[in-house]
Amino acid sequence: MAALPLVPDPHSCARPAQAVVRHLLLDLTVDFASRTLAGSATWQIEVQPGVDELWLDARDLTIDAVLLDDHAATTFELGAADPVLGQPLRVALRPGARTVTLRYRTAPAAAALQWLAPEQTAGKVHPFLFTQSQAILARTWIPCQDSPGVRFTYEARVRGPRELLALMSAGNPQQLSAEGEYHFRMPEPIPSYLMALAVGNLEFAALSARTGIYAEPATLPSATHEFADLENMVAAAEELYGPYRWERYDLLVLPPSFPFGGMENPRLTFVTPTILAGDRSLTSLVAHELAHSWSGNLVTNATWNDFWLNEGFTVYFERRIMERLYGRPYADMLQVLGQTGLHHTVAELGQDSPDTHLHLNLAGRDPDEGLNEIAYEKGNYLLLTLESIVGRARLDQFITDYFARHAFQSMDTDTFRQYLQRELLDQVPGAAEKLRLDRWIDAPGVPEGAPAVASQRFAGVEASLQSWRHGAAPAALDTQGWSSHEWVHFLHGLPEHITAEQLGALDAAFGFTQSGNAEILSAWFPLTIRAGYRAADEPLHRFLTGVGRRKFLSPLYKALLAAPDGAERARSIYAQARPNYHSVATSTFDALLGRP
Ligand code: BES
Ligand code: ZN
Repeated sequence: MAALPLVPDPHSCARPAQAVVRHLLLDLTVDFASRTLAGSATWQIEVQPGVDELWLDARDLTIDAVLLDDHAATTFELGAADPVLGQPLRVALRPGARTVTLRYRTAPAAAALQWLAPEQTAGKVHPFLFTQSQAILARTWIPCQDSPGVRFTYEARVRGPRELLALMSAGNPQQLSAEGEYHFRMPEPIPSYLMALAVGNLEFAALSARTGIYAEPATLPSATHEFADLENMVAAAEELYGPYRWERYDLLVLPPSFPFGGMENPRLTFVTPTILAGDRSLTSLVAHELAHSWSGNLVTNATWNDFWLNEGFTVYFERRIMERLYGRPYADMLQVLGQTGLHHTVAELGQDSPDTHLHLNLAGRDPDEGLNEIAYEKGNYLLLTLESIVGRARLDQFITDYFARHAFQSMDTDTFRQYLQRELLDQVPGAAEKLRLDRWIDAPGVPEGAPAVASQRFAGVEASLQSWRHGAAPAALDTQGWSSHEWVHFLHGLPEHITAEQLGALDAAFGFTQSGNAEILSAWFPLTIRAGYRAADEPLHRFLTGVGRRKFLSPLYKALLAAPDGAERARSIYAQARPNYHSVATSTFDALLGRP
């Protein structure tokens, strides 16, 4: 298949059509005392005839020197700094130049990096460092062409404290090296947002020949128990949509400040410890990150405006994996929870908001603030609708071919639209008219006529909610065998104006405040905040200061802001919690609550 077009990326200063990077040699020293990474990045480049400069993205980097072909210094210029995009970095090339070496160091406050003090880890003895590069933060730790339309292979050498293990989105060590030096190789071309590094007191446990877990020693046993099905997930994914192309699939369980649920760094998914529920109930998140090994990492959104091509396919794929392993009734619960989230997001953004289009326009904005649940759940809903029109067999063949034909390439929404039309819709009479793709891609809200999503297991939850509304005592409700999904659906179904007294009765019967399940807590606390149920105040405080996962924190801070004298409480908790959060969380909450 011919190479896909290189579409302009509003979030990168790079000019890959003129000179593009192909391979990276990274050489970094990790210094916890100064909170810096220092060393060099050497790029192998491909230059179009007559071009005499290379454009890279940089943000908060100190560039000490730039060399061509390993020896000769050349001139470079850092342009005006934009708070979101950083600075264009222009390097002067000489004819025939093949490599550019940048000697540089990062800033202590580099947005991609979170440097944790020992108290912020599970073990409390050693410091910890991790990166989060998506969407446009790779440029805060590597001078690079920071656009998802540009791919490169890489090798790295990383030096750090002897007692800590270093890991990357690449082939990884399984034990400590004596000298504290590690070598990495990623032979498959990846975009910059998948560059990742973590350094900490980490141990490895194998789950199968090609899967395993890295975690702090204190966390490793519970993590291996939680993710026991990892190999089965990879096998199910391969049966659905073709071979896993990245050799190993390992998980790294991070400290609780990790700002996301998961991040699909190739070969090494980063996950939040908040999915260690003890009962394996939150593992769909791992299925999600695994699915990105196809949708996202193999076929990549060309720009952040095309984010739905990454996330929509991934949510659909995630639920197909879960269905294969745990059955349709299980997957249906996830679909209904997803729909609840979708309707909530559309209501929050506004029925007519352009931010509810699948194809986004994020130019001039921080993509991190514009990327919302629409890409995930409206994208998934489009695929569910397609499934109902053409049937599973045809859709599965289409998706398998889509991944195979565009492997290691980037895809934009228009090219996808044409591909879908040609390869699927034109093949099935009436399909295009039924789907009306434009109403999904370039129009707001959720199109009418999409198939209804329902869950048998949730019918039982709704029956219990009904009896409760009719006055049944909590202890008398039929909640036998409920998973955390049923509980979350139950909490979503409680009336908005429930009283503190009613919450107290439910809490006495079901122990929500004491739950160890973060999904349950994050559905429970908004109710307790609204009702002024004081018994939950202290656990809420602990949750907000102990967990850094933005998706959980946002609704809680918003609920606090809306509660009588909640604003003051929100600000005082935030002032205390902020040192525990990653920059992607603090930038959201600084905007919401004001910088303490
Ligand atoms: N790639 C995303 C996380 C992300 C998106 C980071 C945009 C930065 C910018 C990851 O795959 C993801 O979607 N994580 C979700 C979990 C998922 C189960 C919905 C999360 O972190 O909540
Ligand atoms: Zn995702």
